[in-house]
Amino acid sequence: MSIKFLKKITPRWIRRIAFQVREGLEDRKVQRLLSTHSNLDAFIKHLESVNDHGVMQYHAYKPESRRKIFQSLYDALEIKFDGASILDLGPGYGDSLDLAREHGAGIVEFVDSNVNVVVFNTLKGFSGYRRNYTEGKGLTELTAKKYHVVLSKGSINADQFNREGYPISFGDWVKQVEALVAPGGYVIICPTFDMGTRVVNGSYYVCEDPDAFLQSDFTKILKQKGYETVFIEGFNYPKERFPFTFYKKSS
Ligand SMILES: C[S@@+](CC[C@H](N)C(=O)[O-])C[C@H]1O[C@@H](n2cnc3c(N)ncnc32)[C@H](O)[C@@H]1O
Repeated sequence: MSIKFLKKITPRWIRRIAFQVREGLEDRKVQRLLSTHSNLDAFIKHLESVNDHGVMQYHAYKPESRRKIFQSLYDALEIKFDGASILDLGPGYGDSLDLAREHGAGIVEFVDSNVNVVVFNTLKGFSGYRRNYTEGKGLTELTAKKYHVVLSKGSINADQFNREGYPISFGDWVKQVEALVAPGGYVIICPTFDMGTRVVNGSYYVCEDPDAFLQSDFTKILKQKGYETVFIEGFNYPKERFPFTFYKKSS
């Protein structure tokens, strides 16, 4: 029996309770890890010992090359952090956050569903919310109009949204994201795509048909809402995996 079929025949209220129980358990894990690891080095040792592939895959890269990715974005959109605030939806290793803090951002926050990502970035000194932002209350409990930059890089799967594969529709998700942006601030969305069967430029995650993607609901919804599409050298790397960045300056 497939998970999709099981989901279809399970009543919505049972799924909601199961989701809440799961979320509660994950929050408890975060608290436990934070109380047993007092600093980043101790937590990295823990991640090594449990063979974590999430955070540690980024750890293996040279810090300069990881940072270049986000620096090229901030340069391209001329984002000056001086006292500004940023929220990263799905920060992974948190290079976007490190750079924003170094550039003088006032508020540097994140949302992520992954326990290790949350503990890692909390130990770096960032404030975060452990939330699955495509399920349950999503982003609705965060403070409206608080952030000058709301960023999602590689943390939203466009193919999945185009298939209606998340519990929330893409239009509703973008609405929740936009509600968080301060006047004059930016929403930046650089989606990821399904994992395929062939490696392109070192990645299994590729946009198989960029032209079809530009005609898809995902792109149409963003265009209707006034987003620009850009390719940013460095940020959109590798280009087969991250061919498009969408951004919008809020009025
Ligand atoms: C591929 S990583 C990208 C990390 C970083 N943005 C970068 O570009 O280096 C995706 C991140 O999004 C988070 N994520 C994916 N789906 C999520 C969801 N529905 N709710 C919250 N976090 C999610 C993952 O836990 C992970 O930290």
